[in-house]
This record gives sequence, structure tokens and C-alpha cells, in this order.
Amino acid sequence: MAQLAEKPTAATPRIGKQGDPCVMVIFGAAGDLTARMLIPSLYNLARADLLSKEFAVLGVARTPMSDEDFRKKILQDVKEYCGDCVADAAWDHFSQRFYYFAGDFNDDKLYPQIKAHLGGIDRDHSTHGNFFYYMATAPSFFGPIVEKLAANGLMEQSNGHWRRVIVEKPFGHDLESAKTLNQQLLKVAAEPQIYRIDHYLGKETVQNILAFRFANGIFEPIWNRRYIDHVQISVAETVGVEGRGSYFDHAGSLRDMVPNHLMQLISLTAMEPPISFEANAVRDEQAKILHAIQPMSDEEVLSRSVRGQYGEGTFAGQRVPPYRFEPDVAPDSRTETFVAMKLLIDNWRWADVPFYLRTGKRLPARNTHIVIQFRRAPFVLFRDTSVEHLMPNQLVLHIQPEEGISLQFAAKVPGPVMRLGTVDMNFEYQQYFGKQPSTGYERLLHDCMIGDQTLFQRADMVEAGWSVVNPVLDLWKALPPRNFPNYDSGTWGPKEADELLERDGRRWRNFEQ
Ligand code: BG6
Repeated sequence: MAQLAEKPTAATPRIGKQGDPCVMVIFGAAGDLTARMLIPSLYNLARADLLSKEFAVLGVARTPMSDEDFRKKILQDVKEYCGDCVADAAWDHFSQRFYYFAGDFNDDKLYPQIKAHLGGIDRDHSTHGNFFYYMATAPSFFGPIVEKLAANGLMEQSNGHWRRVIVEKPFGHDLESAKTLNQQLLKVAAEPQIYRIDHYLGKETVQNILAFRFANGIFEPIWNRRYIDHVQISVAETVGVEGRGSYFDHAGSLRDMVPNHLMQLISLTAMEPPISFEANAVRDEQAKILHAIQPMSDEEVLSRSVRGQYGEGTFAGQRVPPYRFEPDVAPDSRTETFVAMKLLIDNWRWADVPFYLRTGKRLPARNTHIVIQFRRAPFVLFRDTSVEHLMPNQLVLHIQPEEGISLQFAAKVPGPVMRLGTVDMNFEYQQYFGKQPSTGYERLLHDCMIGDQTLFQRADMVEAGWSVVNPVLDLWKALPPRNFPNYDSGTWGPKEADELLERDGRRWRNFEQ
């Protein structure tokens, strides 16, 4: 196996610059996202020496807590959620920078108090007046919190300091509401201050799509309709709704996964090479692809999209209940837990190359991957192997849990006769780079601290993503499903999803683990 000249490991000294001095204000500091993702990510950044020495956190939430309680809580959080995080001397230094303030986000009186607190923290930690606000709250608070921060002068950038806001998903629940939220934010903040997060862009393997395509000379020339037959993007999950029934039963898989995570994967796979890696250069190209996705008519929605809901089934020998029995889910729910779609991109590179997407819960394996299927060889010389028996070349970008890239091609089966078989050439991240401690949020938080918006969604991209799914949302609402539940837990979704590809003479590539 080829070796890297130098293998970076977790112990490798800092690669990249430290974040600016700043205070991170977390709205929703007592919640799950803060505990599972934000605190472990900040600690990983501290351990990699990527946080400024002048850094502090102010947690805000409704739960009453003192600074000391908050520090005890985050210690529990890292112990629970950050596999190899050890709370050592570095921890004390880290945790002393955490402060907490209890209050109701809707209360106007909270914001002058936050302002006063921030003033003190800024002085004590020399954070230069740089603040960023993380919206780890229910979506209904995003707009109002930012408006109230602005009304108290907390979004104002003057005297060389910066103010930024990170907005979590879901960003709206359809095109109209996403536009409204954009307007609300853009009334009080400029686009370069707004960081719309999509945690898929924090994944190494997702970022690697850009490196793979644009740092290598051999793939780009064949990355087009002349050589590529079709693309499949699958985000398969084994989990059900994991106690999030009250959110999910209103959202459904289409809203939950497609306008955001799947659109990121499509745009990175299909975009033109940007003129530089400057944030807007990359995002311009992503936005162009999203705008080039062919809008679907009602007829096309019917023929090119599939929805499903899981019934009961078996997982690792255990019976699991149907979606409709999950806590906080209506017993006659018509919410989809599976979506498959065929999209077309109207540009010169991709005309007539279908992009098939699917995502679903309670599928047999957790596996996210992108399959690029190339056209078949025009004819096969070898008499003993018919063309139909040979698989076309497939390049697979394995996003998770396997992280790597594999290329499938034909090879001679050893023996006295000429027979062909299909083999795989594999690259595995872990084999080359070892395991890095990461939640996937480190890069995104660090980018916000250095003012790099490349991996954050711009207003136009979010709206373009919703424009793709809106016709589907509308038609599905007008024609509620009559056959739910229509797939068993532990299977690859409804049979219509297979038929979607079979009609075109293709089939899904399933990875069982
Ligand atoms: C979230 C969705 O955005 O992404 C969840 O709300 C989903 O429903 C999750 O399970 C999947 O993320 P990951 O990183 O596990 O693929």
C-alpha cells in the first residue's frame, strides 16, 4: 500500500490558525445539541490548540444554573459524549472560561442583561468585542433572538470587532417560511454575518468530495454525461425517530433530510470547478447546480418520487414497533420516514444523467454513500463473459460509517480460461490517517471563529434547496398516502423505490453494513 510522507495523527501539532479571540454565546445551552456536539467539539478544538487563548463561552437557557453548575454539567457532558476526552489539567483551564445566564428567550429584558454580562466577560478575557451566537434552540426562536440581539446593539460591527450568528436546521419548513426567515435575519444582519449550518458539511468525507474532484487531474475529464451513466445518493439510517417524534411527525423525511443534507451532497458532486476556494466562489457554483435541478411538474412528482413509512419488523433478531407506535407520533400518522427521488440537472455537464436520491429510517444498515456509475464498455471481447454479467464501473464515495473511496472494475479471474469478474480497489481513511477525535462540528465552529463561510449555506442556496422539494411537498399534501405503512423495518424501503430505478434498467447499490 502506498504510504503518505507524513501521517497526521491526533497528536500532530496544530495545522491551521487559531480562532480569533471571541465569546461564543450558546442559546439553548442546557439542551442536547450543546451537550452532545458543541461542548465536545470545543474541547477537541482546545486540545488541538485551535482555540484562541482569549476565548470564552456564555451559555443561555431557561434552566436556572450557576456558572459552577454549568461547569459541572459540561464535565458530565464530555465524559458521556466525547469518547476519549479526558478531563485533565487542560480541562480546568478550559472550563474556567464557561459562564451561564438563565432567562427566557422571548423576554426583551433578557438581552440588556446578556449585553452587560458579555461586557464583563469581554473585559476579563480580552476577547476584543468579538461575539458569535449559536442558535441551539427550537427553530421558532431563531428570528426573534437575532432581532432582539440587534435591537440591543449586539449585532453591530464597529471598531474592528465582529458579530456573527450560527443558525441550526431546520431552516424553515418550506420555501415560503425559509424566505421569511432569511428576510428576518437579513433585516438586522448582513449575509457575511450569518452562518447557516448543515452538519453534513462538517464531515471529513463530505469535504473530501471537493478535494477528490478538484485536487486530482484524472477524474474531472470523465466527470460528465459522456462517461457517467447515473449517480445514486443514499443516506440510510437504522434508527427510528429516537424520541424526536413530536418534531419528526410534523417534518417527515423529505423536509428533514432532502433540502439540506442531500442537496449538499448533490451540489458538491455535480458542481463546476470553482475559480478559487474563496467562500463565495465555491458557493456560487453550488448554488448554480441547485438552480439547475429541473423543477418537477405534478405528473413528474407522481412518477419520480416515492414515499414510505416503516411498519414493524426485525432488527438484529429483535422485533421493533412500527412508526405509528413511536412516542409522540399520531397513531394514524401519514408522515413519511422514507423518500426516494429521481432528479435531473439541466446543464451541459449533466443533461439526461439521472441523480437518484433516497433516505430512510429503519433501513437494514446505517450507510451514507454516493455511487457514480459509469457507462458500460462499448463491447466486451471476451466470449465467456456476456456483457450483462459484467458490472459497469462504479466509483463509490463512502461518507459514513465507512469512510473512503472504492472503485469497482473488471479483472481477469485467475485460471487457464479467460473469465472476468468484478473487483474493488479501496481507499480507507482510517488506514491512512488513523482516527481523529471529531464530532463533525469542530471544523464548522472553527470556521466561524476565523470568518470562513465556505462550508455554510448562503440564503440563495437554502431557498434553491427548498424550491426543489416544494412541488413534492405540495403534491404529497394534496394526495395523502393510502398505503402507509408500506415497508417493514429492516428492509430497504417500499418496493416502488426499487421500481423507480428498474424502470430505467438500473438498480440501487445496497451496502449491508
Ligand atoms: C439530522 C436529522 O439533521 O440528521 C436526523 O434531523 C438524522 O433525523 C440526522 O438522523 C442524520 O445525521 P447523521 O450525521 O447521523 O447522518
